[in-house]
Formats: sequence, C-alpha cells, structure tokens
Amino acid sequence: MAEDLNVIQGTKEEQYQALIPQVKGLLEGETDVVANLANVCAALKEQFKWFWVGFYVVKNNELVVGPFQGPVACTRIKKGKGVCGTSWAQAQTIVVDDVEKFPGHIACSSLSRSEIVVPIFKNDEVVAVLDVDSEYLNHFDEVDAAYLEQIVKLIAFC
Ligand code: SME
Repeated sequence: MAEDLNVIQGTKEEQYQALIPQVKGLLEGETDVVANLANVCAALKEQFKWFWVGFYVVKNNELVVGPFQGPVACTRIKKGKGVCGTSWAQAQTIVVDDVEKFPGHIACSSLSRSEIVVPIFKNDEVVAVLDVDSEYLNHFDEVDAAYLEQIVKLIAFC
C-alpha cells in the first residue's frame, strides 16, 4: 500500500478512531514485522506529533530498540528497568504523568516529561512494547491506553 496518511483534527478519540482503519490498511497483507512496526510508529508520529514513538522488542531476555520516530534512544533495556522494562515485567500498560516521579525512569532525552508504555503480546507472553514520550507533563491518559492497546493488537508478531 502506498498512500498518504489522512491526518485529522479533532478530539483525541476522533483522531484515534480515524487512525485505526488506516493502520489496518497499512498492515493488510504484510507479514514482515519490522515493516509493520515501522509504518505503525510513522503513522502515530504523523497523526499525533509526539516527541518520540517507537518499539522495543524482546530479544535474548532484553528489550532492544526497534523501529521508532524521534531522537536517538537507548538501545537496550533490561526486564524491570525503566518504564519499558517495568511494563514488560508487569505485562501491563503504564502511564507516567511525570517521568521525574517514576523511580528508575531511563531518560533517553532530557526533553521527555511524560510517557506511556503498552506491552504487545504473543501467546500471552510480552514480545515487545510500544513506548511514547511527550515533552509535556500529563500528556497521556486512559484514552491513549485503551486506543494504543487496540492498535498494538493489530500487529501480528510472526
Ligand atoms: N524512558 C524509557 C526509555 C526509552 S526512551 O524513553 C525512548 C524508560 O524509562 O523505559
């Protein structure tokens, strides 16, 4: 598929609702996981203009940075470390309103102020996480959590 993303204005819910069918279109018929991760984070970045959005993939019991959009980032994160490693260890979405108040937060950029990390499952195991960083405090909430959980479920890990 080679089409421009239709970036829409509106409430956060409206933006996610317009984006989800487009993400489905981007993923349709493509089985390469790197290609799919790359296009999903590009679509999220284009719609929401977040500071950093990307994936960390579980490899040899560590998270390794995968496709992302934004400034260069930490390459590897251990289980239980930082927000990403904690989301992996707890197998749950974590919303951080103020990264300075999250014990053990890993600051890949001093500009990042709030963050959301969503685990991605295959056969009930976490195989990757989606990480989104904002330069604004309190940027993410349960609406982002719910929609981002829906979006990552669209990505098949082969
Ligand atoms: N802040 C993350 C590290 C990854 S970067 O934000 C891209 C964490 O604490 O796990």
